[in-house]
Amino acid sequence: MPKHFLSLADIDASELRAILDEAHRIKKARQGLAKGRLDPDAPFKGETLALIFEKSSTRTRFSFDMAMRQLGGSSITATSHDMQIGRGETIEDTAKVLSRFVDGIMLRANSHETLTTLAQNSDVPVINGLTDYNHPCQIMADLQTLEERGGHLKDMTLTWVGDGNNVAVSFINAAAKFDYRLRISCPDGYTVPDQTLEAARAQGATIETITDPLKACENTDVVIADTFVSMGDTDAKKRLSDLMSHQVNDALMNAAAKNAIFLHCLPAHRGEEVAPSVIDGPQSAVFDEAENRLHAQKAVIRWCLEA
Ligand code: CP
Ligand code: NVA
Repeated sequence: MPKHFLSLADIDASELRAILDEAHRIKKARQGLAKGRLDPDAPFKGETLALIFEKSSTRTRFSFDMAMRQLGGSSITATSHDMQIGRGETIEDTAKVLSRFVDGIMLRANSHETLTTLAQNSDVPVINGLTDYNHPCQIMADLQTLEERGGHLKDMTLTWVGDGNNVAVSFINAAAKFDYRLRISCPDGYTVPDQTLEAARAQGATIETITDPLKACENTDVVIADTFVSMGDTDAKKRLSDLMSHQVNDALMNAAAKNAIFLHCLPAHRGEEVAPSVIDGPQSAVFDEAENRLHAQKAVIRWCLEA
């Protein structure tokens, strides 16, 4: 069975810990190297990762491509419109064909089911580059960012504020694995899926849902925001009006612990889910967070591709 990276809920805590340790090691090992230079131990000479996008991407696209270059391999990027899946070829057949050509597949999919169908039919590892349900690579980079700023995840409280979306789901999935406390603050109608919460709690996660964002941010170590209108959401106007009560602003950051860290996976919409003073202020870690997509994903690719 290939080693797929589809959801943080499905991977053992010890393996996820090892991936995060590897991400730190990989980042340190190439300090001072030009961006296009190989890693000192580039292990994937001659290996290729397919990068397939059903929706837009800046960070995921460039970080995966650079990751494969630095690891000594290469990547092939295509949008679904460039491929026959855009004209109705089945995802099952696509998986079987790509398995004959490449060593791994990263997919950004509209529907999570497309991703799981691809994985079920693939002979090579499949990596989740975001679906409508979750975004596991993002959370590995986020946790790397917190740890490199000196945080011990076991001692930290993280607070998600806004839409209970795909990124929120991966924070829930990771809570039991890395043992941080999680608070989730979403307005009615935008809460995270009950089943995801229940499954995480059954695995031992400590997760509170607190509708009032000010209360949810009290003394928290990390405040996390994401767009109010995710890719695929069609009701932008309604969402913006319903979710504005959960904008991360100075009042919320002031309620949080002194020196609390602000995270946002980007792309950001200043004045919507986050005030400019917060995302561009001294507590924001968003560009380290974006950079860490590269390092964390190299560790994920190694976990998937190394025998
Ligand atoms: N955070 C993130 O996944 O960004 P992209 O949509 O640009 O890949
Ligand atoms: N929740 C956002 C994340 C983008 C990286 C979306 O799905 O559009």
